[in-house]
Amino acid sequence: MNLLAVMGSPRKEKATDTLVDKAVEGAVSANPGLEVRKIVLADHDIRYCRNCLACRDRRTDGPYSPCSIRDDMDRLHEDVLASDLLIFGTPLHMGQVTSLLMTFLERICLTFAKPVGKVLTISACPVPRSKKDRKSVTILTNGVVPPLYRRFCDDASPLIRQTVKDSLNGRTVGDLYAGNIEGRGVERYFDRAFNLGRKLARA
Ligand SMILES: Cc1cc2nc3c(=O)[nH]c(=O)nc-3n(C[C@H](O)[C@H](O)[C@H](O)COP(=O)(O)O)c2cc1C
Repeated sequence: MNLLAVMGSPRKEKATDTLVDKAVEGAVSANPGLEVRKIVLADHDIRYCRNCLACRDRRTDGPYSPCSIRDDMDRLHEDVLASDLLIFGTPLHMGQVTSLLMTFLERICLTFAKPVGKVLTISACPVPRSKKDRKSVTILTNGVVPPLYRRFCDDASPLIRQTVKDSLNGRTVGDLYAGNIEGRGVERYFDRAFNLGRKLARA
């Protein structure tokens, strides 16, 4: 069973990275046999999707439709394909995922899913190319907004949840909103991140 952690903060060893590592620890404690891979997005050359639509229009029945861009996604998509369990971690930047994670998700969007049906109907939503069942959790951090006000400042979790479902055939089984890190400190969320990882491994 493969666990893939995707770390979307531009900063290593800060709040998001630390909580992602805690969640990985938790997952491994629940299932020591897990094969773990971690992608620190900031370490990679991942270019913007150019909307060439080559992936969408390619006639392929495989789980992945190749992208026309040559960069680190050539290799990283293999890790996504191999994953059974996923952890997505991102700080909230203006209430959304970071541009690093957004770029990664855009590159996954139509390479891992294909649109079906007519445009402007509900059936035009993409469906995953891969039928492998995946499970996922999300870790969100922010500087000042406490969990009580999450609903006003979290457009990231619905985006990640939907992409996991539509492109990766995955189900989000839990999330951690680590709010007001500046006021509360990241340590406060260690146990919850660890337990989230355990929950993922047992899902
Ligand atoms: C461009 C930018 C936008 C941000 N927007 C918000 C925000 O809307 N609300 C908030 O509470 N914190 C915001 N922050 C703060 C980060 O969410 C916070 O520092 C987070 O914990 C950083 O995670 P990291 O330590 O893993 O990098 C923003 C930070 C940046 C750089």
